[in-house]
Amino acid sequence: MFRSVKIDPHRTPDLEIIGDFSDRELSAAEAPEVQEAVLRPEFKGKPGQMVEAFPAGAPRILVLGLGAKEDLDEKTLREVAAAAVRKLAQLKVTRVNIRITSLPDMQMAGRCFGEALGMLSWRLTDFQGSGAKEDETAELMISGNDESFQKGLEYGFRLGESANVARTLAYTPPNIATTNYMADYARQMAMELGLKCDVIQGDDLIAEQMTGLTTVGGASEHKPCLIRLEYKPENAYEGEPAVVLIGKTITYDTGGYSLKSKTGMPGMKVDKSGGCAVLGMMHAVARQIKPRYPVVALLPTAENSVAGNAYRPDDVITYRNGLTVEVTNTDAEGRLVLADALCWAVDKENPAFIFDIATLTGGVVTALGKACAGYFSNSDMLSADLEEAARVSSEKVWRLPILQEHRDLLKSKVADIINSNLNGQAHAPQGAAFLSHFVPDKTPWIHLDVAGTSTTADDNGFFIPGPTGFGVRLVADLLRGPISVMME
Ligand code: BES
Ligand code: ZN
Ligand code: ZN
Repeated sequence: MFRSVKIDPHRTPDLEIIGDFSDRELSAAEAPEVQEAVLRPEFKGKPGQMVEAFPAGAPRILVLGLGAKEDLDEKTLREVAAAAVRKLAQLKVTRVNIRITSLPDMQMAGRCFGEALGMLSWRLTDFQGSGAKEDETAELMISGNDESFQKGLEYGFRLGESANVARTLAYTPPNIATTNYMADYARQMAMELGLKCDVIQGDDLIAEQMTGLTTVGGASEHKPCLIRLEYKPENAYEGEPAVVLIGKTITYDTGGYSLKSKTGMPGMKVDKSGGCAVLGMMHAVARQIKPRYPVVALLPTAENSVAGNAYRPDDVITYRNGLTVEVTNTDAEGRLVLADALCWAVDKENPAFIFDIATLTGGVVTALGKACAGYFSNSDMLSADLEEAARVSSEKVWRLPILQEHRDLLKSKVADIINSNLNGQAHAPQGAAFLSHFVPDKTPWIHLDVAGTSTTADDNGFFIPGPTGFGVRLVADLLRGPISVMME
């Protein structure tokens, strides 16, 4: 939408945005042309409604409806900000000042505008080749005239940039974004942002008994790996409990021998979205959030392919924690690789809590659609913190259960558990029940299924059709706030 966006206070904007509540009472100091525009009958000051004015000898004005003051929450602010930013792109203005006053939280208002600018400046032109349209986008310079608003603007814009890291990676085609590409990307990002990066692959994966990865990734010429990133604050001590973020990184999901159909397979490049989101989260952690505790990212990375040496339904595999799994469906591969990362986290990282994010099941899309992600947790306290982060970030989540009946669906005659029950019931809870076998009860854990929310087909709000970077802003807010399970 924009070639570049720079947050920069400047003196001569060519457009000024003025926020106006639905009472439509602007200060008497505004130019008469502005007063007149605001009082036009078609302008009601509804959220996102806009009216233009052209005062003599001054920058043009865009009056932006904010709705009723008492209703202006984060969600509405983001909707309003997205509408305004979309309008700016149409108007092709280059220097803009935003003037919004008398809100209880000016920084949050600025942040929502910053996020809108960041998220909406993401474009999908990289692989368009000769079909690419001529670049008609503007370089935007933007400022706010309130100090807190301006601070929020910066903050939100940078968060948007972190979400865009996830979107760009998820969008990159599977012949380019291979397992090694993901590892190289992580190494590069670590170098730039001062993180530690290790990639466990080949014989080391076997030695570490990362059975899910070697099994699922066995048929691809792009070899599987476990990517590990670490953020350590300066005063961290050896063995300090770390927040562990785990992201499913299947660079392509054909389904394996349980092959997907010709309509079910296209789009499965986004099966790496969980891992891409975790990279975006680490980007925000290192640049912006800088928590006072360590954060470790684990990306179990593999391609689920078909070949003579591919794993098959009926195989039985043994995990690092001794659990045996009968493979019933090679298309339920995400849980198999996530299990490795969970084992690793429990054995090696002294986790304060574990958060995993994955495009795990079509079932979660059936249950909840694309409006919110489904999550499962063994901790009410951690769940409450996630709900609060969801409210602040407007990345919506809904808690789903793991019942004994769901666990029972995974009973196996030949191993401890199967990886998927073919009866077609409760796919999302089945996935979570499977993962729970790899997390001790005492370790607070959240599993977030983002199969629905990681992409959108709509050109709406913060998004254009494609990857959404879902989870990055949510977890940034989770890590920013006080986390109850870390204060015990
Ligand atoms: N990668 C898919 C899930 C998915 C679906 C991601 C839609 C993004 C959009 C996952 O590995 C899978 O194939 N899940 C199966 C369920 C499993 C129990 C066989 C599914 O969704 O049918
Ligand atoms: Zn699958
Ligand atoms: Zn998958």
